[in-house]
Amino acid sequence: MDLIRVKQEAEKLIQDVKSLIELDQLRIKYLGRKGVITLFLRELGKLQLEERRTQGELANRIKKELEQLIEIKKTELQIEEEIKKAQKRIDLTLPGKKTFLGHKHPITKVMEEIVQIFVGMGFKEKLGPEVETEWYNYTALNFPEEHPARDQIACFYLPTTDLNNKYLLRSHTSPVQIRVMEDNRPPIRIIAPGRVFRPDDFDASHSPVFHQVEGLFVDENVSMAELKGTLEKFCQEMFGSGIKIRFTPSYFPFTEPSAEVAISCVICDGQGCKTCKNTGWLEILGAGMVHPAVFSCVGYDPLKYLGYAFGMGVERIAMIKYRIDDLRLFYENDIRFISQF
Ligand code: DAH
Repeated sequence: MDLIRVKQEAEKLIQDVKSLIELDQLRIKYLGRKGVITLFLRELGKLQLEERRTQGELANRIKKELEQLIEIKKTELQIEEEIKKAQKRIDLTLPGKKTFLGHKHPITKVMEEIVQIFVGMGFKEKLGPEVETEWYNYTALNFPEEHPARDQIACFYLPTTDLNNKYLLRSHTSPVQIRVMEDNRPPIRIIAPGRVFRPDDFDASHSPVFHQVEGLFVDENVSMAELKGTLEKFCQEMFGSGIKIRFTPSYFPFTEPSAEVAISCVICDGQGCKTCKNTGWLEILGAGMVHPAVFSCVGYDPLKYLGYAFGMGVERIAMIKYRIDDLRLFYENDIRFISQF
């Protein structure tokens, strides 16, 4: 018998086999009790001694190789059958499972939108630390020593043994103005978003943690008219082109003159309603011309430079934009509310 041909034929058949049953039939055909190889080995005794040895070795080697080949094929076929079974179990007519895709929080979205509008007007985004010193949060911003905002009850002081350098959670984003001016020379045009902290009660319009966006422009010739134009453009981008803005005199230690800026009420279009308390206006931000004392604190010549600054609360802007009457909704993170944005 030509063992090599038998081996080649068996290998080809094993290779092409399509099922475990067929594979087992091949195993029986070649290696079974009455299989081709088995019978050959049994008949070896009839051969001459020399031939018996060489043919015997060859037949045993072929037997081992075929056994291995069958084992490998068997594993392959078992895997294939498992996959087929699994595919049968999958009902392609069933509706798919809807995966929930998350998105940015509405406050993050509104804050980014505010920043983007100013970036479009040439402002650069800048960030500052949430833990500040009294110098950056108050002193350099021209808050007098006895100003009530410095009070324990008006901001969160951090425990410290260094009485000359008291640390606190920043109560507004205005300290970023000081940090940027200290590190740069004019012209400066920055927009600084971030979290701020105040020990307020948590109610429909207050939260101990909220968000602000601060703007600052410093150059040799900056006017209040430019401030007005810039804020008007911002409000139109944010709330719609029909919006009107109003400046009323106000007071902040770090600006002079200072103004409170309001927009025509988005609910009643200035006619007077519950939301605008019948005034027709909604206050949205504080602004003004940078106080000369602030320039002196950062080493700028107050006679050479002028600047304007403004600051707004992101939650307030979001509430007006989306007609939300309770700020707490932003922090409860009820998915039914959050997913509307
Ligand atoms: N920092 C002020 C606040 O938290 C907001 C503000 C008002 C910022 C006037 C300014 C500004 O830059 O010019 O209430």
